[in-house]
Amino acid sequence: MKIRKLAFALGAEITGIDLRAPLDATTVTELRKAWLQHLVLVFPDQQLTPEEHIRFSRCFGELELHALKNLQGTTHPEILEITNRVVDGKRSETAEVGRTWHSDGSATLRPPTGSLLYCRAMPEAGGNTWFASMYAAYDALSDRMKQIVDRLETVQDLGYFYGSRGIGTRDPCKVNEDIGDNPAVVQPLVTVHPESGRRALFVNQSLTREIYGMTPAESAGLLNYLYAHATRPEFTYRHYWRVGDLVMWDNRCTQHLAPRDYDPDEVRHMCRTTLKGHPQGRYLRDIPAPAAAPR
Ligand code: SIN
Repeated sequence: MKIRKLAFALGAEITGIDLRAPLDATTVTELRKAWLQHLVLVFPDQQLTPEEHIRFSRCFGELELHALKNLQGTTHPEILEITNRVVDGKRSETAEVGRTWHSDGSATLRPPTGSLLYCRAMPEAGGNTWFASMYAAYDALSDRMKQIVDRLETVQDLGYFYGSRGIGTRDPCKVNEDIGDNPAVVQPLVTVHPESGRRALFVNQSLTREIYGMTPAESAGLLNYLYAHATRPEFTYRHYWRVGDLVMWDNRCTQHLAPRDYDPDEVRHMCRTTLKGHPQGRYLRDIPAPAAAPR
């Protein structure tokens, strides 16, 4: 097994391994170590069935089913299909997944540990995924700013996501059901990674509605700064996909983005498994409203 670093802040390519083969405990431990160190691992040129994808993913923990039931796979509920394919004359509901920077499941009380994304079809050009290290973003803040953000919390809200991005082809009744099933949560703005002990920024443009307890103007000012800061090019790795690549990321200390940088008439088809996370945060509705802030 060979490990080659792909960018300064995060990303490494792993070659000399066939993910179809059952892996021994030493190999899994080595991969886990590489994953914690590089945050994003790229395994090129793999030929995986959905069952093999699931089996490899389970080496790193229990898999979760997507919080939005319509996104659970029909034949393999653990697999989220992210594609612009037309199925039964209808455009897939996942065609526009990931268009703004985010970490998966930040608006849940169990943000996933990580995800493993496998490429089945790629347009001739584009279709990339960008990753950014939230360790690097946190580390680059001044000590004064760290003291401020260390003590803050954010509201993460699926309703905000739909409100700001639109509901696309989703049935509005189903959207209301999704929002009802996934009430807004309050999360720390800076998290401590349970395995590395390092601090990471935990804000994202997709689902972070506001900084808890701040006025909208205060919150927007700081969040906009943090969004721009968190995705500075030096904190990123951009993956140019080839069919057969499997990319695995640590969701606790990274964000990712799937830009619309390809011809929408060409098929892009990705399959994602997601590693169940640990309890984090609390429901907004369960905490007393903060004292009214001056407007
Ligand atoms: C996602 O998991 O947000 C989608 C990533 C991608 O399709 O590249």
